[in-house]
Amino acid sequence: MPEIELGDRTRVVAIIGQGYVGLPLAMAAVDAGWSVIGIEKSVSRVEQLNSGSSPVEDISDSRLTAAITSKKYFATNNPAEVSAASVVAICVPTPLNDSREPDLELLESATREVAPFLTDESLLISESTSYPGTLREVIIPLVNNLKSQDVKKLYFASAPERVNPGDPIWDQKNTPRLVGGIDEESQARALAFYNSICDSVVPTATPEIAEAAKILENTFRLVNIAMINEFTQLCSAQGINVHEVINAAATKPYGFMPFRPGVGIGGHCIPVDPLYLTWWARKGGQVASLVERSDEIANQMPVYVAERALALTKGSTGVPKVLIMGVAYKPGVGDVRETPASALRVALIARGAEVAWVDPLVPLWEGTTPVTEAWDCDVAVVATNQAGMDVKSILDRGIPVLDCTNNYSGLTGVELL
Ligand SMILES: NC(=O)c1ccc[n+]([C@@H]2O[C@H](COP(=O)([O-])OP(=O)(O)OC[C@H]3O[C@@H](n4cnc5c(N)ncnc54)[C@H](O)[C@@H]3O)[C@@H](O)[C@H]2O)c1
Repeated sequence: MPEIELGDRTRVVAIIGQGYVGLPLAMAAVDAGWSVIGIEKSVSRVEQLNSGSSPVEDISDSRLTAAITSKKYFATNNPAEVSAASVVAICVPTPLNDSREPDLELLESATREVAPFLTDESLLISESTSYPGTLREVIIPLVNNLKSQDVKKLYFASAPERVNPGDPIWDQKNTPRLVGGIDEESQARALAFYNSICDSVVPTATPEIAEAAKILENTFRLVNIAMINEFTQLCSAQGINVHEVINAAATKPYGFMPFRPGVGIGGHCIPVDPLYLTWWARKGGQVASLVERSDEIANQMPVYVAERALALTKGSTGVPKVLIMGVAYKPGVGDVRETPASALRVALIARGAEVAWVDPLVPLWEGTTPVTEAWDCDVAVVATNQAGMDVKSILDRGIPVLDCTNNYSGLTGVELL
């Protein structure tokens, strides 16, 4: 295991979970002069990290290796290492369970694992996305039950991460950071930590406001994406090009924000976080009906896309063969979590199609490996516009393409949503 120069405990941060959120935070903290202990449950990921190989696209191997060789970073699966840190940030997944309700098991177990090793006067931050009240009602009681008796005072804050994987412009440093401490001293310490890393830090009066703001941001996206996908279906049925409509509307200098149609919603945030809101609403005896309906429309969109694609195979005989191009949930990443391409594939297979896929950033998906663009298909669906995909070679063979990304409009053989 690489060594780390721990030095002054007040400049050591432990980050629990070294994924899309935790590793970029770790590197940003190293850049800001912190020594960073990356606590990661997956043993293979710990080995990978310590060998200088980054598991996330936004962090290059050279940046990770530089952090390791400067003795400012190492990864470990030992939660006891948090005892060397004055700041501990939890960045573990907050998914849905099989009933599509919040599953805080990973967040709770990460909290349980580190709680006994927190030292007096440490600051514990949750960056994981969750419903308002998670810090106060879930994390703090767990810590208070499990902390060492020597610990007299701990500080707590919620600072939900806003990272946008694959974004070349917005990162940990230049994205304003919401920070809500549980009390005044917690707030002061959390602000000091994020001020050392981020260009702009925005204090909120309570952790619940920070938690709710994060959920609002992603629910805003879900509702707007669902709305434009519904609107697209209306326009398409009437022979109107929705992209031209959006472009026209977007000339209004105020009060309109363009959202584009697509196969659906994907990734760890947009399909998941709004359901933390709907669950939280129902827990409080209310119904977030617009959000629930948006979720339904979002989940129906891949079925609509499947039917549109199969309509393009009419006339060919035998089992329709459909090539899905781009299966990651967005361009520039190999992340297939919650990708709408999965529901598209299921809908196509349910309608009797044979399905294959290409994606230069995804080596394995749903137990299958990619084919090439040379695969003999009746129609191709551009689901995510990954660089390196050869759509043109398919069109050159006279095969129709349903472009859900509006990147190939105007080419002969291309149909848009
Ligand atoms: N990915 C995004 O775009 C994004 C953006 C903003 C916020 N978030 C939120 O950030 C949180 C983390 O998401 P992510 O995308 O980084 O997840 P991730 O799956 O990429 O990484 C999480 C890491 O935590 C590790 N882990 C799980 N339990 C652990 C434990 N007990 N101890 C140590 N390590 C543990 C996992 O092995 C994994 O490597 C989630 O709440 C998510 O909603 C994600």
